[in-house]
Amino acid sequence: MRHTLAIIKPDAVSAGRAGKIWAHLEGKGFTVRAARLTRLTRAQAEAFYAVHRERPFFESLVSFMTSGPVIPMVLEADDAVARFREAIGATNPEDAADGTVRKLYAESIERNAIHGSDSDENAEREIGFFFSEAERLSL
Ligand code: RTP
Ligand code: MG
Repeated sequence: MRHTLAIIKPDAVSAGRAGKIWAHLEGKGFTVRAARLTRLTRAQAEAFYAVHRERPFFESLVSFMTSGPVIPMVLEADDAVARFREAIGATNPEDAADGTVRKLYAESIERNAIHGSDSDENAEREIGFFFSEAERLSL
């Protein structure tokens, strides 16, 4: 599959790092095929991260993800999901490899600058979460 869903998270948008991250991703060979600036409602953040509902960090994650604007985007590349996960690095920036988005731009394990889908199945679900059928058909 050629597409994955990224979200530039509130920490990075609020700190004015979105442009640098966007340029970094283009430099790594990803093409931005759709994007918007939006702010998640609590219900949207809870639904997006429903898989983590039982985790101890869930409430904090939802508060963080609704704390300011985010930039969901559809990225295109060969083997997009796996290559994008590699480009963003480990969840905790302390563990992220040099040159990854999280190593360069994340503040902490929670305020970690960017989201990336973790499977083709989730990429499809997550793209549908943010983009209309008309937008998806034009990808
Ligand atoms: P993401 O889904 O945002 O791309 O991140 P991920 O796969 O690398 O990490 P995941 O395990 O799916 O966790 C989702 C997000 O929850 C926050 N988190 N906080 N305090 C904590 O221990 C903790 N662990 C995870 C992060 O914002 C993480 O990206
Ligand atoms: Mg995840």
